Amino acid sequence: ARLVVLVSGSGSNLQALLDACQDPAYGAQVVAVGADRDGIAGLDRAAAAGVPTFVHKVKDYPERADWDRALTASVGLYRPDLVVSAGFLKLVGDDFLAAFGDRYINTHNALLPAFPGIHGPRDALEYGVKVAGATLFFVDGGVDTGPIISQVVVPVEDDDTEESLTERIKEVERRQLVDWVGRLVRDGWTITGRKVRLK
Ligand code: GRF
Repeated sequence: ARLVVLVSGSGSNLQALLDACQDPAYGAQVVAVGADRDGIAGLDRAAAAGVPTFVHKVKDYPERADWDRALTASVGLYRPDLVVSAGFLKLVGDDFLAAFGDRYINTHNALLPAFPGIHGPRDALEYGVKVAGATLFFVDGGVDTGPIISQVVVPVEDDDTEESLTERIKEVERRQLVDWVGRLVRDGWTITGRKVRLK
């Protein structure tokens, strides 16, 4: 199966996928990595693995929809079976969702529907919840609202800082991502309403 991975940052989730894809039994290859900015470790990780990359910055396009079309075209060139947002900090638009909405997944560092957005661990700490975690889901038109594939839980410790909780979540988040991308590409999936099932 062909994976296109979208990143905006350190790319540790991308790296976990690249590592998993070394095993032929995993059944997937990262065929391209896309980003919305230069100078990020995620792009360096792709280059180090010999994976082609592309960058589309919103500010380089007159309208957001133009950026979305360019992104859609670049992803489409690689004919992905699954597109993975792994710390990609942009909401895609209608064109992208029309092309890939049935196979675009995202990993979020909170237990949705609680704490959507870019500060999941910080918001969870401030709220005072006792468990946190990560959610893997199919992207729809909303912010972290799509059908949930899997969730994994970690405890919140009394002495946690935003950094320590973020790191604890990321460890299980990477495993969940690798595990479920493998299952999805090997088994196939159906989405009925909000229910995601392996075939
Ligand atoms: C992940 O924890 C994701 O949930 C959040 O950003 C992080 C991406 O980390 N949105 P990385 O770039 O994969 O290291």
